[in-house]
Amino acid sequence: MTRRRKTGRGVKWLSHYSSEQSILVVGDGDFSFSLALATAFGSGVNIVATSLDSYEALIGKYSKAELNVMELKTMGAKVLHHINAKSMMRHSFLETRRFHRIVFNFPHSGFKGSEYEMHVVISHRELVKGFFTNARYLLQPYGEIHISNKIGYPYDSWNIEQLALESSLTMIGRVSFQKQDYPGYNQKRGDGARSDQPFPLGYCCTFKFQDHKEVQERSVVYRCYICHISSYYHYDCVGCGATLGLGNGGPLHLAYR
Ligand SMILES: C[S@@+](CC[C@H](N)C(=O)[O-])C[C@H]1O[C@@H](n2cnc3c(N)ncnc32)[C@H](O)[C@@H]1O
Repeated sequence: MTRRRKTGRGVKWLSHYSSEQSILVVGDGDFSFSLALATAFGSGVNIVATSLDSYEALIGKYSKAELNVMELKTMGAKVLHHINAKSMMRHSFLETRRFHRIVFNFPHSGFKGSEYEMHVVISHRELVKGFFTNARYLLQPYGEIHISNKIGYPYDSWNIEQLALESSLTMIGRVSFQKQDYPGYNQKRGDGARSDQPFPLGYCCTFKFQDHKEVQERSVVYRCYICHISSYYHYDCVGCGATLGLGNGGPLHLAYR
């Protein structure tokens, strides 16, 4: 089953995101991701783009940040700095707002050793866990939290899906992340002397999460006949990414409540 998209006049889409959604972007590097969205929508009025860095630190780190931030503001986006994913729900601007989509691309707590070392993995996991707790609070009903991350060891050992469950969130989809879907976006290392440089993306995915109770309410599960994994909700198999629906195992109505 393919997702039905509201294609009313004036609604513009870029990949999973539409001009009608209120979107919070967390931990944006040089703000090129938020700018890609605003450019595609022809407006940034529904976008809140944020960095952990102060404005001064940001423009010191990234050669294009000053221009990107200026363009975002011109297009009507709200740009905020000093936004910590682990405490953002208490931020004076954010705490009164609720978003349809909250996006954190390639969360990374900094280069504090080899990515294979346990203390580094723990530090990344703490960031993702804190992000989930805060993002869940800032979601509109039936809103979605998206994290893009690399696939394979050691990234799989972050166990993002388990961290989500601990915050009462359920993974509802996992789709391949394609940089070319976001024209102008440049992924950034974001820490250390080479902050402005890209990191190799390799195979990476966007993981989508929704409030656990809201997912259960739907009580429809699809079982993928390719990998035999059951997925909540109505689109991509969490195991292999296949589009689910009738003809691919069919909906199984399971008694979750
Ligand atoms: C690998 S970079 C990715 C940057 C950007 N999202 C991109 O795709 O280019 C990791 C980012 O996570 C941010 N970050 C680390 N800890 C954070 C925190 N506690 N709150 C918000 N952002 C954080 C860093 O500032 C950096 O921008």
